[in-house]
Amino acid sequence: MKMIVAILRPEKLQAVKDALKEEGINGMTITRVTGRGSQSGVRFTTRAGEFCVDEIEKVKLEIVQEDERIDTAVAIIRRVAATDHIGDGRIFILPVERSLRIRTGD
Ligand SMILES: Nc1ncnc2c1ncn2[C@@H]1O[C@H](COP(=O)(O)OP(=O)(O)OP(=O)(O)O)[C@@H](O)[C@H]1O
Ligand SMILES: [Mg+2]
Repeated sequence: MKMIVAILRPEKLQAVKDALKEEGINGMTITRVTGRGSQSGVRFTTRAGEFCVDEIEKVKLEIVQEDERIDTAVAIIRRVAATDHIGDGRIFILPVERSLRIRTGD
């Protein structure tokens, strides 16, 4: 088992959820987060001066799946979440030792 931690543009969340559901991937944890990537945020200039925003709003998805489904899930997330512009997000894949359902102990 592995956990996919995907940091996405918030506006891509619904489309990613829909596409994962089509593959039968339903269970996930969704958290609104802020973060910064390799550009350390965004810098812009207005008449009032130069500004730097180094915490950009993103959405974090945590999805635990069997190893053999990880590549499929990652491919779906990439296909749907990509705009080909900087800030599309990141995907991390972590090992998971155990998982059980509280109701049944399965
Ligand atoms: N090294 C990292 N460790 C943990 N989280 C990260 C890391 N890099 C990026 N993130 C998370 O991913 C989010 C999106 O990052 P972003 O898409 O800007 O990544 P990037 O590596 O800079 O890629 P790009 O060049 O496409 O912008 C960040 O807001 C942050 O939450
Ligand atoms: Mg970036």
